[in-house]
Amino acid sequence: MEITLKLFRFNPEKDQKPHYETYTLEANETDRVLDLLELIKGHHDGSLAFRRSCAHGVCGSDAMRINGRNMLACKVLVKDLGTNQVTIEPLLGLKVIKDFIVDMEPFFDHYKATLPFLINDEPLPADGKERLQSPAARDRFDDTTKCILCAACTTSCPSFWSHEAYVGPAAIVNAHRFIFDDRDRGAPERLQILNEQMGVWRCRTAFNCTEACPREIHVTQAIAEVKRAITTGRLE
Ligand code: FES
Repeated sequence: MEITLKLFRFNPEKDQKPHYETYTLEANETDRVLDLLELIKGHHDGSLAFRRSCAHGVCGSDAMRINGRNMLACKVLVKDLGTNQVTIEPLLGLKVIKDFIVDMEPFFDHYKATLPFLINDEPLPADGKERLQSPAARDRFDDTTKCILCAACTTSCPSFWSHEAYVGPAAIVNAHRFIFDDRDRGAPERLQILNEQMGVWRCRTAFNCTEACPREIHVTQAIAEVKRAITTGRLE
C-alpha cells in the first residue's frame, strides 16, 4: 500500500521556524511507524532526527505525536492507523531540540523531585536478607511499576501544557509505585511534595494521560489514589 507521511521538521541551527516535509512510501500494513521513519532516514534524508533504542515498546525512547495522539512509534502498526495519511510531530510541552527529539530534562527533573526510589532506614530483618512482601502487598502497586518514562502521559496533559512546573502524571505514577509499597517509609515526604501547589491538585482529571499510556497504566486512577492518601492520611 502507499502511505503519505507528513513530518514535522525543525533544526534550530538552520531553521527560523518549523516546517513540514512530506514523503510517500510503499509500506506493508504490518510495518510499524518506526520502520517508516527508519526507511526515510536510511534512504531519503539522513538528517531526520528521532530517538529509538529497543524498538519493542520497552525503553520509552520513541514517544511522538502520530496523527495528533501520543504513541510509541515502535508499537503502532500501519494497519492500526486507519488511514494512509500520517502526520508525525514531536511531543507537546517540551522544547524541541531537533525534529522529533525533545528536551526530556524538565520531565526527568519532575520525576526525580518525587523521590522515585525505596526509602527505608530501618535495620534489615534478623537473617540479614531481603524485606519480605506478600503477593497481595506487591499487587497493590503493580500497575504503576509498568511505567517506562516515555513521557506520553505528561505531554498529553493540558495542565502540564499550561504549567510546565506541574510535576505531571508520570512523576505521580512513579511516586505512587513507592508510596503504596509496604516496605517503603518515604510516603509522608512524597505526599508532602505532591500536596504542594504544583503537585497532584493541578490534575483536572482530563484522562488524556490514561488514554496516552502505551503500557495501559490506569494513570488517572493512580493520581486519584495519591490524592486520597493526602486527604485521608491512609495508604490503602
Ligand atoms: S524504541 Fe524503545 S519503546 Fe520504542
